[in-house]
Amino acid sequence: NLLITKYPPAVLVRLASFHGYKLLNDQGLCLDTFTSMLDHYYIKYVMPYVEDSDGEEYALLKPKELDIHSPTYLPRPAVVTIMGHVDHGKTTLLDSLRSGSVAAGEAGGITQHIGAFSVPLPTGERVTFIDTPGHAAFSNMRSRGASVTDIVVLVVAADDGVLRQTVEAINHAQNARVPIIVAINKCDRPDANPDQIRQQLLSHGIQTEEYGGDIQSCEVSALRREGLDRLLDAINTQAMMMDLRAEQDGPVEGIVLESRYDRGRGLVATVLVKSGLLRIGSCLVAGAGWGRVRELSNEHGVVLSNDPNFTFIPPGMPVEVSGWRELPHAGDIVNEAPSEQAARAIHEALNRTGYESGMTEMTREAALAAETAA
Ligand code: GTP
Ligand code: MG
Repeated sequence: NLLITKYPPAVLVRLASFHGYKLLNDQGLCLDTFTSMLDHYYIKYVMPYVEDSDGEEYALLKPKELDIHSPTYLPRPAVVTIMGHVDHGKTTLLDSLRSGSVAAGEAGGITQHIGAFSVPLPTGERVTFIDTPGHAAFSNMRSRGASVTDIVVLVVAADDGVLRQTVEAINHAQNARVPIIVAINKCDRPDANPDQIRQQLLSHGIQTEEYGGDIQSCEVSALRREGLDRLLDAINTQAMMMDLRAEQDGPVEGIVLESRYDRGRGLVATVLVKSGLLRIGSCLVAGAGWGRVRELSNEHGVVLSNDPNFTFIPPGMPVEVSGWRELPHAGDIVNEAPSEQAARAIHEALNRTGYESGMTEMTREAALAAETAA
């Protein structure tokens, strides 16, 4: 029998028998010991089935090859994180981008904080912004090529310049090999000196186009909502170069960005879909959380799944999911189970093995920082 325990961002497969070991090998998964970590990359191609027989769980892992020529390997929205020094305008920029999307004709309603939102572009593409403390966005979720963030928008206040957290953000992004777009903010201020910012960035290895490099920089005023179209353009250009795609076929995989108790809707979690199509009724397991999708809402609190034309949430889209029996945590990897019983069985198996809820060190650190700041 195989016992699955999941530690973010990996599935720990404990093989109770040589038979199980051989079964995995037969299916093309090479494990060199009886206890081996399967990383996030593998989860994408591995579909766990758990059945309950005589009170015992066993798992059959089905590998799925990634086929880049598959007709279901389709373009997806870019996922963007905003980083920068304290008070340089990250929150203001996010708010301006978000309310811009409301003005652009999205379904109305009260804008609430859900940690992620998606903005439509004039070209028809969308961009997803995640409102996550910078280091959390680069947490252990990023394991062997599976990163949450595709692009970093580095906010630098034109009147303040490159400071400690600006440099930290640059280092984070460069270590994660995530491309940077510079947003020089507060350009409405009389003492703003955008060119000086570009020069400062140069000495930190950020060579903007103006200085012969390939890093785009935009002058914006988040407060006055100026230059935002240019910024979105720059993001779109970068995203197109990256040709971001995701597999739409197969089980849903995603990441929990936030989770909370909502008075009206009970346990809700903001999930970023990474692959597969998330539907009403999808059975999910995420860290110590599990459930069956009851309702899917956007950042405005609009229940998307109430729309008669609603079918699914595709990869690259963030969505608020309700229907959890137990709440997952930020940083938990979401996997789709073939049935509610399977989801429950996986959940119970995790509990029995002393699984500790899914917060990674980095997200835990971020949560602590957020708590302290609040
Ligand atoms: P932390 O979350 O504390 O790191 O700050 P932040 O980067 O989110 O900055 P925030 O958006 O809270 O903005 C800080 C201050 O700068 C606020 O008083 C904003 O009103 C102001 N601010 C933000 N953007 C602009 C801008 O474009 N122009 C001007 N003049 N002020 C701005
Ligand atoms: Mg802020």
